[in-house]
Amino acid sequence: MSRPRLLVTRPDIPPEALAMLRERCDVTTWDHPRPVDRSFFLDHVKGVDGLFCMVTEKIDKELLDAAGPSLKVIGTMSVGHDHIDLNEVKARGIKVGFTPNVLTDSTAELAVALLLMTARRLVEARDQITNGGWAGCAWSPLWMCGQGLAGSTAGIVGLGRIGQGVAARLRPFNVSKILYTGRTEKPEARDLGAEYVTFDDLLARSDFVIITCALNESTKGLFNEAAFKKMKKTAILINTSRGGTVDQAALVTALKSGQIQAAGLDVMTPEPLPSDHELTTLTNCTLIPHVGSATVKSRTDMATLTSRNILAALDGSAMPAQLC
Ligand code: DGY
Repeated sequence: MSRPRLLVTRPDIPPEALAMLRERCDVTTWDHPRPVDRSFFLDHVKGVDGLFCMVTEKIDKELLDAAGPSLKVIGTMSVGHDHIDLNEVKARGIKVGFTPNVLTDSTAELAVALLLMTARRLVEARDQITNGGWAGCAWSPLWMCGQGLAGSTAGIVGLGRIGQGVAARLRPFNVSKILYTGRTEKPEARDLGAEYVTFDDLLARSDFVIITCALNESTKGLFNEAAFKKMKKTAILINTSRGGTVDQAALVTALKSGQIQAAGLDVMTPEPLPSDHELTTLTNCTLIPHVGSATVKSRTDMATLTSRNILAALDGSAMPAQLC
């Protein structure tokens, strides 16, 4: 029997995941440690049975047409799937596997770390050592003061797996209230002591607003000028979901005008963000480069789960994590 053909869009995925695939399939990989060139992608996807891809690849009609009817399964090494046109995929009967759970802890930890970095102005403070600011003022009573979590109200937009992980990690910091909003009330919220509120209520009451929802038609550009106007002037916005949930031009205006106090972003638009983008010039904006799930364990588990999803679908057995 001939071996299934697979395309893997990067050569630098954790080796155990690649080995699992190579044992049973003929695998082609893009050879460079950067996102695959679209022309290579369109050429090499032709006639494959399975595709192992990342959030950096657009899986749209053009790509699926190029792949043709042989394509049975797409494994994305991500929990987010806004890069995949699910309607097109479903219409062709292609299965999609993704990676929930294995990155929940790492991403929730990162969200809290980014919240602390932003609220306590840690990047700005670190810079004072090298830019002479510290030498100029030594210890000053109000210098480099930020906000603490104790006694604050944290608002979580999207209390899914990662949102719940963030809520659980905020409790030991003695926040006084956790609010959340989303499409539906979540039974898990009870144990987390989180209160379901409307989006507007959350904006008005939260000291920290943390975006952990998926990007879709209803969350695209959710944080726009009108939303920033409803937030406290002292509010801090944290985004670890997708850059598309925020109208970035409106955020720049809100940060520059003092409409909100600060933002910490792990995700932005576009990615990679140009190094001279206006956001990089704002001292009240902490930027990190989409590293939410970047622990060796999470990335290894994400890669091996993606391989298991693909192999199961090719076998016709239940995928460990099937999106559709
Ligand atoms: C995901 O899995 O969707 C993340 O954004 C990548 O870490």
